[in-house]
Amino acid sequence: MKSEVIFDGDNHKWIILGRDPEKSEQVIDTNEYIIVSDGQACLLDPGGIEIFPQVLTEITRHISTDNIACIISSHQDPDISSSLAMWTDLCPNVKVYCSWIWTGFIAHFGMGTKLSLIGVPDEGMEVPIGNSRSNVYLVPAHYCHSSGNFSVYDPKSEILFSGDIGAALIPPDYPMYVDDFDRHIKLMEKFHLRWMPSTTALKNWVRRIRLINPKMICPQHGAIFRGENVNKFLDWLDRLDVGKWDMGAEVTDLNKTVWMKWKKR
Ligand SMILES: [Fe+2]
Ligand SMILES: [Fe+2]
Repeated sequence: MKSEVIFDGDNHKWIILGRDPEKSEQVIDTNEYIIVSDGQACLLDPGGIEIFPQVLTEITRHISTDNIACIISSHQDPDISSSLAMWTDLCPNVKVYCSWIWTGFIAHFGMGTKLSLIGVPDEGMEVPIGNSRSNVYLVPAHYCHSSGNFSVYDPKSEILFSGDIGAALIPPDYPMYVDDFDRHIKLMEKFHLRWMPSTTALKNWVRRIRLINPKMICPQHGAIFRGENVNKFLDWLDRLDVGKWDMGAEVTDLNKTVWMKWKKR
């Protein structure tokens, strides 16, 4: 697994982990992020059980696990939350934040460990990074794609972690930052059309994020948007019409073949 420092200033760092060449082909590639502030760390979307050993090895190159003060799960999916019991076993004092609607569901990943999760209210909240001088903000991103979903904004670095918003399905050697935005659209489009259920929710998120005006947007899959690509990405998202896939021709054709077979039985 590779890691790269994407922000470093005033005792405050962001590190991205990802592009694991040893990852099984069966699991989707994910990015994990760590914020290290005054020696205290916050882990964003820690990843699945399958990649836990690689993530742990890479993290310990940057910080001791004793200093992981909090974990934020943007939503409930297994590629984000299924490793939580392992993190809780390793760091018993860690505070784990996720949407209040998912606490009872994520607890199913407990594997014998009692997961004490802090349920984030729908309007979001401020999260301190341990006893450092830094707080991050959980920004509502409901229905983008999950019905209880948060982005994370860090005012010190002006970085926004966007979870699955901005996700792209990329080849293993893809760069960490988006280079050619128009080419990158092809790697994001299908994901958003299928996984994002609500155009209204996406537009509301874009409006919220334009007010925040982050310098970088970091998704859980794919590559980071920075510089002019931040606005290009928000503009693209604002024009996207999602939640229509099941009305398309693909499904109609599928229905014809599969349903007719069932009918005959
Ligand atoms: Fe997801
Ligand atoms: Fe994801």
